[in-house]
Amino acid sequence: MEVKVALVTGGSSGIGAATARLLAAHGIKVYAASRRGTFQTPTPDVIPISMDVNDAEATRLAVAQILQAEGRLDAVVVNAGSGIYGPIEGTLEEEARQQFETNYFGALKTIQACLPAFRSQGHGRIIIICSVMSILQLPFQGFYSSVKAALLSLSESLSMELKGSGIQCSAILPGDVATGFTGARKFTVASQDPASPYKEWMEKNLKKIEHDELGGMRPEVIAKQVFRQLRKKNMSVRVIPRADYKLVGFLVRMVPARVKLSIIRILY
Ligand SMILES: NC(=O)c1ccc[n+]([C@@H]2O[C@H](COP(=O)([O-])OP(=O)(O)OC[C@H]3O[C@@H](n4cnc5c(N)ncnc54)[C@H](OP(=O)(O)O)[C@@H]3O)[C@@H](O)[C@H]2O)c1
Repeated sequence: MEVKVALVTGGSSGIGAATARLLAAHGIKVYAASRRGTFQTPTPDVIPISMDVNDAEATRLAVAQILQAEGRLDAVVVNAGSGIYGPIEGTLEEEARQQFETNYFGALKTIQACLPAFRSQGHGRIIIICSVMSILQLPFQGFYSSVKAALLSLSESLSMELKGSGIQCSAILPGDVATGFTGARKFTVASQDPASPYKEWMEKNLKKIEHDELGGMRPEVIAKQVFRQLRKKNMSVRVIPRADYKLVGFLVRMVPARVKLSIIRILY
């Protein structure tokens, strides 16, 4: 079934905005959802909508609005999210919960809002933007790594549950991408403690991760992968864009956990 109408969450910036632009350039009508409800460059086939994925009712209403206007919804790109930085020691439970609220439960609310329409149509495509950190944990990003690992598990369970329904699910695991993600990252209270035993290490670590992100892939690279999946008859269950990150994914599976953590500890 050809994709004619798509919802992209987190469509106001970065990967979501690049995806919305690319899909629209290929004739797909895109609803780009975000809290801001804006789109960088006005494009006729991209309709910005205001939707906070933390709000179940707003999410349900946004999907209803698309169905009313278009009579169909063929695909959803579950992309809205942000990062959090800080040591696990001293992180407030509320800070950890907030990370799960948007990145995990927001994704779940989006998927659950789309599934009834996909079911009644007998087709639908779900693409979940995870991260290489779904399979590779980094120090001081323990909650972001955890939430992206949980999202990958959700995606793969969902993929099995939907088999034979006409609805498909695919997870994309990007490495570093230069977007608004770096600037939007939240910092835990513990990460700001001048007496933190991790202070010096965090300063070095943060410099490296910000440098890597800002020098990372263009978001269009990920948008291309999304588009490629939407055009495939059978979507891939798990996609790691770019050969170097694919290699990292392979090595992570091959080396013992202790060796993996020692290497990461040296690099980060
Ligand atoms: N950049 C990277 O290196 C990287 C790597 C791997 C995976 N990712 C993942 O890629 C996805 C997109 O991130 P990005 O890199 O494109 O960052 P970005 O430029 O900061 O974009 C994040 C998008 O999410 C939206 N958003 C955040 N909270 C939201 C909420 N509660 N409800 C609705 N929309 C919300 C933001 O819009 P508003 O602020 O207007 O709501 C924005 O459009 C995220 O899931 C991120 O974890 C990023």
